[in-house]
Amino acid sequence: MTEFDQYREGYSQQIDNAVAFSGQPQDFFTRAKARYLLDVFATFRSQRKMAPSQSLDVLDIGCGQGLIHPHLRPAQSGIKLTGIDVAGTVIEEARAANPDVHYDVYDGVHLPYPDRSFDVAYAIAVMHHVPPDDWEAFLVEAARIVRPGGLVVIIEHNPVNPLTQKIVKSCPFDQNAVLLRSGRLAKLCRAAGLVDPKRQFIIFTPFDTPFFHKLEASLGWLPLGAQYCMAAHVPS
Ligand SMILES: C[S@@+](CC[C@H](N)C(=O)[O-])C[C@H]1O[C@@H](n2cnc3c(N)ncnc32)[C@H](O)[C@@H]1O
Repeated sequence: MTEFDQYREGYSQQIDNAVAFSGQPQDFFTRAKARYLLDVFATFRSQRKMAPSQSLDVLDIGCGQGLIHPHLRPAQSGIKLTGIDVAGTVIEEARAANPDVHYDVYDGVHLPYPDRSFDVAYAIAVMHHVPPDDWEAFLVEAARIVRPGGLVVIIEHNPVNPLTQKIVKSCPFDQNAVLLRSGRLAKLCRAAGLVDPKRQFIIFTPFDTPFFHKLEASLGWLPLGAQYCMAAHVPS
């Protein structure tokens, strides 16, 4: 049984407690990440001139209960979504909640897919649970299952933001977390053979209106967001 199998019950409640001071529930943060990903998927599709009927193969590594999956609307948005995690009981919950997503369980090291299986692989709030000595190998394995020209996207807590540090300290399942700075992640991406890592900071304010969503999108360069997103290409 993994750490997250144990924290499965009350997982969302514990996050809600940790982020309560922001005045927003966990779902607010999940939706911000979904907006970023949907934007990345749309840009990818248009750059690759993909036909609307062509599905985008996407892997969510360390997907947990799949809380973000309903926000990605796989059935409507042409995404063929697969989620994978090391925690089997958590995956059972994800499977029950999201019938249009395929789920697998793995050992946390070797993804059970052939080379070049996906267009995009992403991992949200996973790397800080992976031992730092294994960070590069985690990225190498993610890159292996992505097609040439495809994307590996990592979304992580921004350790530079003091409120993020406060949230991590108050989350029981983050006791063993080791946060990584975006600069370090960019270097790790290059060491793993990925190219052109692009960084965007997200979640600057607790306001949830279209005006603030637009404002936030224009602040992506400012290294003060609660989280950051790194998108790097597998060489063509
Ligand atoms: C904080 S949760 C994030 C879950 C989900 N990505 C989300 O944003 O809601 C971290 C997840 O990473 C998973 N995990 C830990 N080590 C992993 C590894 N080596 N490979 C894949 N998943 C892992 C845990 O089981 C857990 O579900």
